[in-house]
Amino acid sequence: MKVKIGIIGGGNMGGAIIGGIHKKYGILLCEQDEKRAQGLKRKYKITVCDLKTAAQEVQAVILAVKPQNFETVLEGLKPHLAKSKPVISIAAGITCLYIEKRLGKQAHVVRAMPNLPVQVGEGITGICTGAAAVDSDLILARRIFGCIGKTVVVEEKWMDAVTAVSGSGPAYVFLFMECFLRAADSLGLDKAVGRELVMQTIKGSLKLLERQKEEAEVLRERVTSKGGTTQAALDVFSKYELDKIFKEALSAAQQRAKALSQ
Ligand SMILES: NC(=O)c1ccc[n+]([C@@H]2O[C@H](COP(=O)([O-])OP(=O)(O)OC[C@H]3O[C@@H](n4cnc5c(N)ncnc54)[C@H](OP(=O)(O)O)[C@@H]3O)[C@@H](O)[C@H]2O)c1
Repeated sequence: MKVKIGIIGGGNMGGAIIGGIHKKYGILLCEQDEKRAQGLKRKYKITVCDLKTAAQEVQAVILAVKPQNFETVLEGLKPHLAKSKPVISIAAGITCLYIEKRLGKQAHVVRAMPNLPVQVGEGITGICTGAAAVDSDLILARRIFGCIGKTVVVEEKWMDAVTAVSGSGPAYVFLFMECFLRAADSLGLDKAVGRELVMQTIKGSLKLLERQKEEAEVLRERVTSKGGTTQAALDVFSKYELDKIFKEALSAAQQRAKALSQ
């Protein structure tokens, strides 16, 4: 018998989670957009239901609506939710305390911050637990998000940093890719050739980093000969203080996450 999970909100993230876990778990989806709900039902053979059913007939509930819809959803859930049932929220900036205040302080709250690559099973999800959550809640959350990538467990005080690093992280990688592609283009390379060179360089470098288990710094030094082409490029990155740009950018994201959760 499959463990049943209630999912509230079947948008980008809810849909990606369903895609990754529907074979392992029974899914009861509550989604207000009828067309979207029916699309997911057809695609993954899941059950579409109302909020009450998605709260009562499951072992855990995942909240995958936007932060501005939380108030309504929590209010609707409260009368139907057993106190010991884990509630897993993926909303950016919604703290465990916010949920506990609305569901009651005994609520078993888990907070998770997944990122976009969950759509291809390669996400990473930062997870923390609220005051009344128990080990089995955390284990279940790790199992669920483990179906769509890796998981890390942190204390809640680190969730803003997790948001800044991996939650927003895919956008930094896409930006890097855009800059890299435009630069390849500016050298006069054919667009398709430039794209292949850039994509495979990123993929191959990552694989190397994973396989060799050496620090990025060590591998970078190994491919940089004094006075060579790589050194010429790295000198430019250094002149514009890429390191400082990264630190400032991530700090801005962390501050924004902190402000949103006030
Ligand atoms: N996207 C990301 O990369 C990312 C990463 C980490 C965390 N998150 C978090 O994930 C959550 C969902 O984000 P998303 O991008 O998946 O949003 P989304 O695409 O807008 O999905 C939310 C879905 O929930 C539906 N909904 C709203 N209120 C509802 C209600 N009361 N009952 C049932 N369904 C309801 C929405 O319908 P309508 O469209 O009709 O409103 C929509 O289909 C957010 O809290 C966000 O902070 C997102």
